[in-house]
Amino acid sequence: MSKKTKILVTGGTGYIGSHTVVELQEKGYDVVIIDNLSNSGIGVLDRIEKITGIRPEFECFDLTDAGKVENFFSRHSDIKALIHFAASKAVGESVDLPLLYYQNNLSSMLNLLQAIRKYNIPNFVFSSSCTVYGEPDKLPVTEASPVKPATSPYGNTKQIGEEILRDAAKAHSELQLISLRYFNPIGAHDSALIGELPNGVPLNLVPFITQTAIGIREKLLVFGNDYSTPDGSCIRDYIHVVDLAKAHVIAIERLINKQNKHNMETFNLGTGKGVSVLEAIESFEKVSGQKLNYEIVSRRPGDVEQVYADTRFANDELGWKAQLSIDDAMLSAWRWEQSLKK
Ligand code: UD1
Repeated sequence: MSKKTKILVTGGTGYIGSHTVVELQEKGYDVVIIDNLSNSGIGVLDRIEKITGIRPEFECFDLTDAGKVENFFSRHSDIKALIHFAASKAVGESVDLPLLYYQNNLSSMLNLLQAIRKYNIPNFVFSSSCTVYGEPDKLPVTEASPVKPATSPYGNTKQIGEEILRDAAKAHSELQLISLRYFNPIGAHDSALIGELPNGVPLNLVPFITQTAIGIREKLLVFGNDYSTPDGSCIRDYIHVVDLAKAHVIAIERLINKQNKHNMETFNLGTGKGVSVLEAIESFEKVSGQKLNYEIVSRRPGDVEQVYADTRFANDELGWKAQLSIDDAMLSAWRWEQSLKK
């Protein structure tokens, strides 16, 4: 039997991580997950196994512990590549606890980079965000659009993370790095076995919509209808999490097969289509058959008016294009929400 290629997924029991583990396993990769379960449950492993028939290897520890990272790699030097999702991601919390955010998000990344150099595992994919573009001057945003000063410590950890990668790639030519800038990931796996599980009151739009529709929340507050957009509400590029997960598999294969053109590459992962908050609600109502209780209120401080991706670079270079629509994503999110009630 030929040995399968082994991929490390940090944060692999989380929202985007778990969907990526499924796609990797379905493509025949062996997956090992590291997660400290700070924002996910161990039960996700059972669910991944239910979908793919394979239970991923799992180790529970904190990547900020350099000794544990080192010990892990000393036992897993056969890993061929890694995808680094593990990070704290709540914007508001990061404003209150900046040191914790810098510590968690940056020291874990530095520990991983040191270890992969030592163990000659050059291929590293980083989970970045369109938050680096701030309020863009020109739409859609390309990878060359200016990076704007971060408006939160969380956003800053993504910017600094990318800077660390750029410097590391310059100094250490053996490292092969890809940074993926996600637009707004939404939706869930078709099986409704994995999806987004917000801790407490959701801050993101789609979990708030589905929780309102199912009766956990009384109504959705739409933050502003006085923006300079066609219907006055903010515009985002909502990307189905399964499309996003597939892009990670392609990025990993690009590195493993040495198809990358530079040793630090950055790609936008979005659909290229801007959708307003009111259009997103309309899509949800259409596919779910539910009337959503919502109220227009004032703007949420710090919100960007509109941002959506120019996806040509990812389309042409990665050969990846989002296949699923906002309707597909909303339906899957709704089925996932309903499955949680059972
Ligand atoms: C937010 C974060 C961003 C992070 C991303 C992760 C902020 C300012 N930005 O992006 O840094 O990378 O999540 O997914 O927190 N909306 C409502 N009512 C709600 C919730 C949201 O109207 O109850 C609107 C927002 O005003 C926004 C849109 O829905 O226009 C999307 O909001 P959200 O899902 O929070 O994502 P972002 O703000 O784009």
